[in-house]
Amino acid sequence: MFTDKQIFGAPLAGITDKPFRKVVRMFSPTSPLYTEMISCHSLVGAHKNCLRNFDRYDTEGNIGTQIFGADPKLMAEAAKILQDAGAAWIDINMGCPVPKVATRSGAGAYLMRDHELAGKIMSAVVKAVSIPVSIKTRLGWDDAHKDWQDLINIAIDSGVAFAAVHGRTRAQLYLGKAELPPKPEFQIPIIANGDIKDIESMQKAENLGYNGVMIGRTMLGKPWILGQLAGNEIQSINVGEVALRHFEYMLEYYGTKNAVQMFRKHVAWYSSGMPNSAEFRIKVNQTTEEKELKRLICEFWGCELNI
Ligand SMILES: Cc1cc2nc3c(=O)[nH]c(=O)nc-3n(C[C@H](O)[C@H](O)[C@H](O)COP(=O)(O)O)c2cc1C
Repeated sequence: MFTDKQIFGAPLAGITDKPFRKVVRMFSPTSPLYTEMISCHSLVGAHKNCLRNFDRYDTEGNIGTQIFGADPKLMAEAAKILQDAGAAWIDINMGCPVPKVATRSGAGAYLMRDHELAGKIMSAVVKAVSIPVSIKTRLGWDDAHKDWQDLINIAIDSGVAFAAVHGRTRAQLYLGKAELPPKPEFQIPIIANGDIKDIESMQKAENLGYNGVMIGRTMLGKPWILGQLAGNEIQSINVGEVALRHFEYMLEYYGTKNAVQMFRKHVAWYSSGMPNSAEFRIKVNQTTEEKELKRLICEFWGCELNI
């Protein structure tokens, strides 16, 4: 699950779902990938309106399933469910800044403010499963509380196998530049995250002493990027065909009605910066038909409608 200098695909809610991971896997069969964050309440309650509660991971390779929540018992139960579903490892979200998670639920980034609770959650999850457990966190709550190293030490005492650190505070959300300090000595590997998008930024993280890197937003509209940066042999990329394949996987997973609507944002990312993309996106956003969306994709990229 963890070896030095790996390139991790970050958890991205609303993006790194099963269909997206399948597309990433076409270019990067072995890189470690995270799921979207999954609520422990939703998972343990097996809420039927959330498809990912029923995902299996056995055939997905190196997959870390990320959970969020504030209740150690429920988090442990959720971790067991994901282990049984074939996850390679469990990740605990300790960095999500959105109010619904961090302030109203006392989960995600809030755990950077309550290290005692964070420790209880980590210990409960580690005890509940036999697969490795990681955490993903930020530098701290705000500039006055950049105490991520304390949290990492608690993680080490709790039996956590590795940690990923996003070089921003909760207060920064996604603003400004991510800045990671040189990595201090820790007994577990630390993965650098935040604004890493090319060989140069990967190299910078490595020079700072980090044991691997994690890439998030750079994957949007570029599901091949992890494979490319890892130096995998990739034949020339036909973006239209990749987009069509992605859409097929979305249709299989979500059904036509939801897939057509949910795929619009991916179309925007795939076509970003291309000539006439604004016009194309308007047409895509107006269609509710699977066939019409496929036709538009083929017309825009000039590919064959044969998958
Ligand atoms: C749309 C979006 C959704 C995200 N969802 C999650 C999530 O579910 N869990 C998590 O730990 N981080 C989540 N993040 C944070 C990313 O994993 C990552 O830490 C952040 O985007 C910085 O990395 P980047 O600069 O490579 O994108 C999300 C970020 C974005 C933009």
